[in-house]
Amino acid sequence: MQVLPKGARHIPGYLDRAAQEALVEDIRAVVQAAPLYVPTMPGTGKEMSVRMTNCGSLGWVTDRERGYRYQPTHPGTGLPWPPIPEALLKIWREVSDYPHPPEACLVNFYTEAAKMGLHQDRDEAALDAPVVSVSLGDSCLFRVGETSRSGPTVSIRLDSGDVVILGGEGRLCFHGVDRIYPATSTLLKNGGRINLTLRRVTKPSPPRHIR
Ligand code: SIN
Ligand code: MN
Repeated sequence: MQVLPKGARHIPGYLDRAAQEALVEDIRAVVQAAPLYVPTMPGTGKEMSVRMTNCGSLGWVTDRERGYRYQPTHPGTGLPWPPIPEALLKIWREVSDYPHPPEACLVNFYTEAAKMGLHQDRDEAALDAPVVSVSLGDSCLFRVGETSRSGPTVSIRLDSGDVVILGGEGRLCFHGVDRIYPATSTLLKNGGRINLTLRRVTKPSPPRHIR
């Protein structure tokens, strides 16, 4: 049994098959409105192997010129991102232990050759809110470390329907995807893996007092 760093939580099998199928349909609709695109690294312009899009009032994007950021529109179409599907908002309410809704849902699509290097999610102002991630389709080898890049890491397998939460002390843990295990799921007709990460980006405004 692998012990994850404090604040990192893995819930295997959070979504049953029917819920996974329904969520894939939701994501198909998102991708129709906001097509997957090839993100590029700040400065170098090197292409990432993962294809991305977003839903929510803000989406996480990256390109050579302007780097990592959140913006309200799709970089290709210029249109606002489609809304976050209700099924994902429900998961957030159930697991986030955070009183405000997420603003961004990053949709990552991995073919069997894609991976994602070790990184922190730190472009959000609301670091008191967790990052909640949902895996669909082929399994992957997920690596999670501590809050310093050189700290020890643990590797776990994420399967379709699993949820991972990085919150509290684990909010800034380094994490990445070392590899996809091809043909380990029948959920996606053409294979591959979808990962959905829900984030609160801005700090909620403080309550207004009546007098
Ligand atoms: C991410 O960190 O954006 C994605 C993690 C994953 O694919 O599980
Ligand atoms: Mn991340």
